[in-house]
Amino acid sequence: MSHSTDSEPIGVIGTGYVGLVTAAGFAELGNDVWCIDIDEAKIKGLKNGRIPIWEPGLEELVERHRARLHFSTDLADALEHARLLFVAVGTPPTYSGDADLSAVHAVVEAMPASDRHALVMKSTVPVGTGATIKRLFAEQGKGGFSYVSCPEFLKEGSAVNDFLDPDRVVIGDDGDWAGDAVVGLYAPLEAPLVRTDIKSAEMVKLASNAFLATKISFINEIANVCEETGADVVEVAKGMGLDDRIGPKFLQAGIGFGGSCFPKDVTALKQLAGNSGYHFQLLNSVIEVNELQKRRVMAKLEKHLGSLVGKEIALLGLAFKPNTDDMREASSLVLSARLQAAGSRVRAYDPVAEEEARKLIRGVDFKASAVETVEGADAVVLVTEWAEFAALDFAELASSMRGSLVIDGRNFLDPSKVREAGLTYEGIGRPALKDREPAGTT
Ligand code: UDX
Repeated sequence: MSHSTDSEPIGVIGTGYVGLVTAAGFAELGNDVWCIDIDEAKIKGLKNGRIPIWEPGLEELVERHRARLHFSTDLADALEHARLLFVAVGTPPTYSGDADLSAVHAVVEAMPASDRHALVMKSTVPVGTGATIKRLFAEQGKGGFSYVSCPEFLKEGSAVNDFLDPDRVVIGDDGDWAGDAVVGLYAPLEAPLVRTDIKSAEMVKLASNAFLATKISFINEIANVCEETGADVVEVAKGMGLDDRIGPKFLQAGIGFGGSCFPKDVTALKQLAGNSGYHFQLLNSVIEVNELQKRRVMAKLEKHLGSLVGKEIALLGLAFKPNTDDMREASSLVLSARLQAAGSRVRAYDPVAEEEARKLIRGVDFKASAVETVEGADAVVLVTEWAEFAALDFAELASSMRGSLVIDGRNFLDPSKVREAGLTYEGIGRPALKDREPAGTT
């Protein structure tokens, strides 16, 4: 990777997970970055090296480039030093399913008239937002302000790596200096580039996330049919994934997708279509399948335990996926509430997300380790596939449990290891042991 010497200073507005990773990534490429946030405590913390989120490699990267990373609550600092102002503020869902663009609009309002600056939109916004903002700029006498759409495709837990080694960079612009400047910024990454119009770039982001979510809901439905027919979805996914046109990724059946992007973006795209009078039927199903998938664990527990009243259920993992402390839309939120509503007592352990989980989950007994969580439990449910759970000593767990049921919500554990310990293993879309024919049977 070649690092440019004559690098472009940039501003990043919003120091959440996207903003900070983008800032640290561009600092790694040799750029000076002015990071702006309205949250004074956050900026103060960042100045002292405190990273507000748990993201592997981020703290080291910020530390390494302290000299290039400038933190401030004053937008003027970014405007003075940088031409390109990346916008990475939150666009959470509203009750109607539309994205809440109030933080984006606050940034637009705060911009002065200028013909030397550009907004570069990283926040995920509905198609047409760029056009609206350009119209607002024109109405406010700020028509000289340029606009570029540059969606992010960072996965939580591997965001730093995704920034430095992206599958593609998508840049939507009007063909002016700002688009060229953003292309130049990303050039050292030598990634495939899609340079297009603003609306198409906005749609690439929403469509990509909706497609990946569709892939997950699809394999989850295949898993449910596998349960009815005795096929094993892990084998099925392997067989499907080797087809180049399908690919092996995002074919892991489980108890549903969560996180800050998929649920929100799928709903936002459905809503965007609906607002223009188009009924996006497929996405309705993707969302519904995902909601039902989170609840399927209940039926599995009842199948083995009968009534769940008074049962002790141990949840291993709470975060929406491993290597993050993000609890947004995590399947554990629905599951822990459903279990308590059914009369169970719930204990849980997550190596990283406990603090976030405590803000959102009530009535759960948080434990300090997996071993402690499982002690005396009637059933264990693996919710998040943290690596440490694969290394558990199942014989030891079996001897400390009251019951013997292990539900692997991510098809992550080795079923034979669990069964050898005398436990009953149930995955998602995998046959129970008695249904399996011995290997070699014709
Ligand atoms: C996603 C997109 O991948 C990323 O490009 C975008 O910028 C932000 O949204 P993220 O939310 O961090 O990233 O997580 P991701 O790794 O995509 O997983 C999302 C959810 O899908 C998780 O809950 C995960 O457990 C679930 N998932 C993923 C499955 O259930 N099965 C799979 O095969 C893959």
